[in-house]
Amino acid sequence: FDVVDLIRTKRDRGELGTEQINWMIDAYTRGYIADEQMAAMTMAIFLNGMGRSEIRDLTLAMIASGETMNFDSLSKPTTDKHSTGGVGDKITLPLAPLVASFGVAVPQLSGRGLGHTGGTLDKLESIPGWRADLTNEEFFSQLESVGSVICAAGASLAPADKKLYALRDITGTVEAIPLIASSIMSKKIAEGTAALVLDVKFGSGAFLQDPARSRELAETMVRLGTDAGVSTVALLTNMNVPLGLAIGNANEVRESVEVLAGGGPADVIELTIALAREMLALAGQPDADVESALRDGRAMDTWRAMITAQGGDPDAALPTARETHVVTAPRSGVLVEQQALPFGIAAWRLGAGRARKRDPVQHASGIDLHAKPGDTVTAGQPLFTLSADEPERFARALESLEGSWRIGDEGDEVLTGGPLIADRIG
Ligand code: URA
Repeated sequence: FDVVDLIRTKRDRGELGTEQINWMIDAYTRGYIADEQMAAMTMAIFLNGMGRSEIRDLTLAMIASGETMNFDSLSKPTTDKHSTGGVGDKITLPLAPLVASFGVAVPQLSGRGLGHTGGTLDKLESIPGWRADLTNEEFFSQLESVGSVICAAGASLAPADKKLYALRDITGTVEAIPLIASSIMSKKIAEGTAALVLDVKFGSGAFLQDPARSRELAETMVRLGTDAGVSTVALLTNMNVPLGLAIGNANEVRESVEVLAGGGPADVIELTIALAREMLALAGQPDADVESALRDGRAMDTWRAMITAQGGDPDAALPTARETHVVTAPRSGVLVEQQALPFGIAAWRLGAGRARKRDPVQHASGIDLHAKPGDTVTAGQPLFTLSADEPERFARALESLEGSWRIGDEGDEVLTGGPLIADRIG
């Protein structure tokens, strides 16, 4: 094949065949197709979309670009979860040990944050001693003994996606449904999980803001998983408002531990329980009493075992920032608005996130919210606290928060964009 012909085909709204897609992904992974050619291809896909069979072929070709894993040797069923990312989304932290406490294996290969969305590995690295990189032997032995593992995906899993994602990131082609769906599902199918629950976000802090587009993404991914023999379900969830009260890294670990101790913010508990129920139902335990595992300490025991197995000290003090800046309510009333995206950007500017892949994150930087939309507040009461190691970061963070929250009066509409869990697909 000639890559220029394939680019022209997609540019002119034609359809690529299986052989063409297989060849293209293999040639790109080997470096035979240049980045500028693939950039033109991804932009053509971004603009003109892909048909069902093209998306399936693209996903399968990306899986075939690397190694695949297999959990048949484990004595327990596997079930995994993936979130498309959001602001304050720490759900994996309480969820993985919660589900594993029911005797199910949760092989959670996670990523790092980029831009305003946080990364699970960055959060866990706030815990002194905790390691994201495990050998294959360590990974399998922890799945068998503890049940849950949250670690970095090895370089050998869907290498085509790693190259393609880095290219999309710098060419404005991330937000395309065929590309997002194939990217996420190639990794999850290659990972070898038997069941998968997708948390597909919509709203201000999500990848795709429009609920209709998020639904299309969810449906596309559920179909890809099901066709590949992975039992797949998706929840469509609201990311217009930050999830929970903590946005950052160490503070999100603190909040997760509160949930594992039977407390924590209502929205984090609700989503953790809903996702746990779906994961356990797919693993053959539709009647699992998820709430009591949070109340009676079983989920906490699994968390402690999981952190310890990966070198971390679950009792160690988490880092705290050198400087804080408190924003107070200018008047009494009701908090009617708190937009996820500006809060995510502010936490990122405080040092909680990274602008480039190699940047370090500051684990103690971030935002703690003291009120959520719908809460009554009185003049002078703290609304949120910014934390950073370098006080010069506060001004830029505050700039991004301008106009992102509002105090109204009793009876005003509270702008949350609807319920937390909007729908279930699958
Ligand atoms: N996450 C991924 O892994 N890939 C995408 O394309 C978007 C989000």
